[in-house]
Amino acid sequence: MRVITTIKEMQELILQQKSQGKTVGFVPTMGFLHEGHLTLLNRARQENDIVVLSIFVNPLQFGPKEDYAEYPRDFERDRALAESEMVDFLFYPSVEEMYPTDLSVRVTVQERTDVLCGSSRPGHFDGVATVITKFFNIIMPTRAYFGKKDAQQVAVIEGLISDFNIPVNLVAVDIVRENDGLAKSSRNVNLLPNERKEAPVLYQSLQVAAGAIDEGERDPNKLIHLIREEIGKESSGVIDYVQIYSYPQLKPLEKLEGTIIIALAVKFTKVRLIDNFITKID
Ligand code: PAJ
Repeated sequence: MRVITTIKEMQELILQQKSQGKTVGFVPTMGFLHEGHLTLLNRARQENDIVVLSIFVNPLQFGPKEDYAEYPRDFERDRALAESEMVDFLFYPSVEEMYPTDLSVRVTVQERTDVLCGSSRPGHFDGVATVITKFFNIIMPTRAYFGKKDAQQVAVIEGLISDFNIPVNLVAVDIVRENDGLAKSSRNVNLLPNERKEAPVLYQSLQVAAGAIDEGERDPNKLIHLIREEIGKESSGVIDYVQIYSYPQLKPLEKLEGTIIIALAVKFTKVRLIDNFITKID
């Protein structure tokens, strides 16, 4: 595995590989790798000749009051994990390499951002779409792998690829969970011990909603109420949102039909956790 820190070298290596007809699988991350990330890498390894992992905590997607400084980082551990997943190139640029000057052009996301995390985190998806556009131009991947844990991110990147005609295939991978159901996240280490015990309630509440849907419930407001009640019973966390939309359009629904997403975010002392459930209603 080679660690690359400059854009120029990364682009040259990729062009070399592509001139030999190699397919390139790309997994963008902010590091502090866990099994969720490793699942994306594993999938990329199976489906491509070359696997590129990027590790970059992107300042552009964090709000001024968010956890950019506290975001966990451990490059040596990540490097060893990447090596064991048979990554070919680990792209690890500095902030100065990615943003040497203030950007004169930024990507602005117009749709699918006024809901869920977009409304709680203004500017977040512009930051994600901007850095992903840069990465797509640097890595020129055949396929790019994203987790459904961040389902709104998947929806936004789908829009980016389609609207800007970017020649890449997006592969969306299922959520990887701890044994108790908590969705794996780099941020879980910032939960206090009692919060870590409570956190599986996010997933449990989604399961309660899934059970109600199976039994015929089609009223989004009733499901939202049920989820809020379930979280309130078990957790000291403060609910940021519980919302239900069509997926991937993220439009409001009077009644559940088609493919829908139930998504939620809960704030704990030092960390805000998200989870979601996507299902097709018959
Ligand atoms: P990060 O939070 O590091 O996540 C990198 C990728 O791993 C994302 O596509 C995310 O959805 C996926 N992922 C995280 N936890 C997962 C889980 N439990 N199961 C499945 N997939 C999971 O998302 C970002 O970084 C950034 O926004 C990024 C795309 C790198 C742009 O800066």
